[in-house]
Amino acid sequence: MRHFLTLADFTKEEILEMIALAQKIKTQTKQRKFVPYLEKQALGMIFEKSSTRTRVSFETGIYQLGGTGLFLSSSDMQLGRGEPLKDTSRVISRMVDMVMIRTFEQSKLEEFAKYSKVPVINGLTDSYHPVQLMADYLTMIEFGKEKNPVVAYVGDGNNMTHSWLMLATKLGFELRVATPKGYECDASIVAEAMAFAKKSGAKITFGNDPVEAVKGCDVVTTDTWVSMGQEDEKEIRVKAFDGYIVDEKLMGYAKSDAIFLHCLPAYRGYEVSEETFEKHAEVIFAEAENRLHAQKGVMVWLDAKRNEELRVKS
Ligand code: CP
Ligand code: NVA
Repeated sequence: MRHFLTLADFTKEEILEMIALAQKIKTQTKQRKFVPYLEKQALGMIFEKSSTRTRVSFETGIYQLGGTGLFLSSSDMQLGRGEPLKDTSRVISRMVDMVMIRTFEQSKLEEFAKYSKVPVINGLTDSYHPVQLMADYLTMIEFGKEKNPVVAYVGDGNNMTHSWLMLATKLGFELRVATPKGYECDASIVAEAMAFAKKSGAKITFGNDPVEAVKGCDVVTTDTWVSMGQEDEKEIRVKAFDGYIVDEKLMGYAKSDAIFLHCLPAYRGYEVSEETFEKHAEVIFAEAENRLHAQKGVMVWLDAKRNEELRVKS
């Protein structure tokens, strides 16, 4: 059973297959052709953290594919009252055709997947946000930045950075990461990504200087300095990230036609200036819309893989 827990689990070819499906379905959707690839299928959507984009894009996406989405907030489920995750998985996965989860530890997602009878999709964990990267890559393609791009990530070494590391090292492009000292990426994730980089030829650099990272790059990206679950650290983080704002001065070091990506929500005056955000709003909101299209590619691909497995078994 294939799940979508981290891009580390996929080959370059598989990632590109899902992107190609997303492009095809996006074109059909834009022509108001809603092909029921997942007719009558139900997607369970478990949220242990807040969401705007992930919820709306998955719910709309599965509906446009001929199925239905169930929004399941953990605080309203028996899960929130202590029902074990593995039991929740064994119940829900007998009733729905696919599950998306947004949770804290990656290990919780892995545990759910271990007990699930249906494909499980990572809708964000503390470690990764892979569906966001599928949308980001689709956006890079649409804005002409997929050919040997140099991407600079400026900010916190978090779930977004880890996902960029996986995308870059799987596809083989250059990624420069600039984080403040003490806010670097997880060492074990870096080690795993560097092993992929050896195979793909991706050039990955880490440092503490945003200017060095951004110089001459094609894509600049960042994320909030205070991720969900880190609210108590806000004051100390804002101090630590002083000098890491992506503003016009920093963007001036990138190529003149460089694009700026942000997964959203964006906090102006912190990781990005209002001016830079608004200047790049067209790309940023195309990126947000691409969550809808990219995730359709992921869901249809996972369903096709499951059907292949069922055919082989029968
Ligand atoms: N980028 C993203 O995942 O947004 P939400 O938290 O609103 O889902
Ligand atoms: N790093 C952020 C991403 C939000 C989409 C968080 O985890 O809160």
